[in-house]
Amino acid sequence: MAFKKMSFLCFLVIILSFLKPTSETHHHLRHRLSAAAPPRISSNPATSSRFQPHISSSVLFHSTLSLPTTSHAAASGGGEWSLLQESIGVSAMHMQLLHNNKVVIFDRTDFGPSNLTLPPGQKCRNNDEALKTDCTAHSLLYDVASNTYRPLMVQTDVWCSSGAVNSNGTLIQTGGYHSGDRKIRIFEPCDDFNCDWVELNLNLTVPRWYASDQILPDNRVIVVETTDPKEENNLYPFLHLLPDGNLFVFANQRSVILDFKNNKIIREFPVIPGEKRTYPATGSSVMLPVKLTGDGFPAVEIMVCGGARGGAYIKATQGKYVKASKSCGRIRVTDKDPNWEMEDMPMGRVMPDMLLLPTGDVIILNGASKGTAGWECADDPVLNPLIYHPDEPEKEKRFSVLNPTTIPRMYHSSAILLPDGRVLVGGSNPHVRYNFTGVKYPTDLRLYGSDSIRRSQPQSGSGSSQRFREVQRALPFYMHHMRDPQ
Ligand SMILES: *[C@@H]1O[C@H](CO)[C@@H](O)[C@H](O)[C@H]1NC(C)=O
Ligand SMILES: *[C@@H]1O[C@H](CO)[C@@H](O)[C@H](O)[C@H]1NC(C)=O
Ligand SMILES: *[C@@H]1O[C@H](CO)[C@@H](O)[C@H](O)[C@H]1NC(C)=O
Ligand SMILES: *[C@@H]1O[C@H](CO)[C@@H](O)[C@H](O)[C@H]1NC(C)=O
Repeated sequence: MAFKKMSFLCFLVIILSFLKPTSETHHHLRHRLSAAAPPRISSNPATSSRFQPHISSSVLFHSTLSLPTTSHAAASGGGEWSLLQESIGVSAMHMQLLHNNKVVIFDRTDFGPSNLTLPPGQKCRNNDEALKTDCTAHSLLYDVASNTYRPLMVQTDVWCSSGAVNSNGTLIQTGGYHSGDRKIRIFEPCDDFNCDWVELNLNLTVPRWYASDQILPDNRVIVVETTDPKEENNLYPFLHLLPDGNLFVFANQRSVILDFKNNKIIREFPVIPGEKRTYPATGSSVMLPVKLTGDGFPAVEIMVCGGARGGAYIKATQGKYVKASKSCGRIRVTDKDPNWEMEDMPMGRVMPDMLLLPTGDVIILNGASKGTAGWECADDPVLNPLIYHPDEPEKEKRFSVLNPTTIPRMYHSSAILLPDGRVLVGGSNPHVRYNFTGVKYPTDLRLYGSDSIRRSQPQSGSGSSQRFREVQRALPFYMHHMRDPQ
C-alpha cells in the first residue's frame, strides 16, 4: 500500500557498475584544537595568482584586520574567515575534496569565458554553446596544503551534473547539460601535474540532469533523479546511505527508503511540515552522527534545514522574493514509527550548505533569506553561518550564530569540509554569464576558509571530545559494509 502511495514520486534510477573496487578507503579527519582566538579576517593578497600552470608551493602572507561590526548582534559563536585566493578564475559551483588534500572545483562550460586561461599549448574547446572557441578553463584543481591551483579541462557541460567518489578515491561525475547530459567523467587524483578530467567512452542510458549520486556498499554509484510534475521540479534529491545498506531519498517534502537491490520502496516517512526543501526551494540535509548503542544496526537520524514555500520560485522569477524557511526537521529513520521533530533556526535560509563537522556539530552556511535557487531568484544574503549542536538537550541552546562573512554566497555557491577541520567556501553567480559590474550580486571568484570548529566547542570540552570519538567510531562501521561485489 505504501508503495502505491509513492507513485507520485517517480524514481528514475540507474546504477553504474565500475570495475575492480579496492578496499582502500581514505579518512583524513584531523581535528584542530587550539585556543580560542579573537575573530579576525586574514587575507593573503600576495598569493592571489590568477593563473598557475603548475601547483607550486608559496609562502602565505597573513595580515590581520579587525572585523567590521554588523547588524547581526548575536554572533557569539565565534568563527573566523580567511581569504585564501582573491580569484581562482572560476566560480566554485561544485567542489569535491579528494583523498590527497586537493579539491576539484568546477562551473558550467556554456556561459562564455571564465577568468582562468588554459595553459599555453592546451587545446581549446570548440563549438561551445556560448563561444565558438573557448580557451578558458571551467574547472581547476586546488591544493589545500600549498594554497595553489592549476586549470583543468572539462570537455562537456557539467552544469546540473552530479558526482560521487568511489572507494579507490576517483571522482565520478555523471550527466549534465547539452552534450554533457549522458556523459560519465572521471577524475583520478594524482600527486604530480598530470591528472585531468577523462570522459569515458560509455554513456548513461538516459540523460541525467540535477540528479544526486551516492556510492553504494558494493562500490557501485547510484544516480537518482526525482521529479514531480505537479510541483516545481524537486530536483537534486538528498541521499543518505543507511547502515543496513538501503538508501534514504528525500525530495520536496517527502522521503522514502529505497531498497535499490530490488528496486523497491520499503518505507515511506511522514511529510515534513513547513516548506519545500529541494530545488528550486533548495534546503540541505545531513545524516547526524551515528550512535553505536545497543545491538544490531544503530539509530540513524537525518536532519533537513531551510527551503522555500510552494510558489516561491514563480514569484521570484517575477521579482517578488518570498521569505525563506526558518525550520529544520529531524527524523530518526530507524524508529518503528518516526516523526519529524521540528525546530527553528535563528533566521530563514534558502540554498544553505549543511556540513557535519568532526565535532559532531553541524554547520549551516551560505544562501539567502528570500527567494529560491535559480537565476536572479534570491535576495538578502544570509552572511552568518550557524552551528547546530545536535546533542544539546535544551532546544533553545542548540543553535549558535557565527561571525559573518562579507561576501554574499548566493546561487551556485558551495562549501566543503577540509581534512584540517576548516570549511572551504567559494562560488556565487546568480547570473547566466559571469558579471562583475552593475549587478547587486556580482559573480564571485574568491575562495575563503572558515574556521568554525575551534570556536564552536562547549567551554568544558568534554562533550565535544566525546562527540568526536563517536564520529571516529562510526567510520569503520561504514567501511565494514563496503565489500567487493564478486
Ligand atoms: C579507480 O576507479 C576508476 C573508475 O572505476 C578506474 O577507472 C580507475 O582505473 C581506478 N583506479 C585504480 C588505481 O584502481
Ligand atoms: C574577470 O575578467 C574580466 C574580463 O577580463 C574582468 O573585467 C574582471 O574584472 C575579472 N574579474 C575578476 C574578479 O578577476
Ligand atoms: C555516447 O553518446 C554520444 C552522443 O549522443 C555519441 O556520439 C557516442 O557515440 C555515444 N558513445 C557510446 C559509447 O555509445
Ligand atoms: C551585467 O548585468 C547588467 C545588468 O543586467 C547588464 O547591464 C550588463 O550588460 C551585464 N554585463 C555582462 C558582462 O554581461
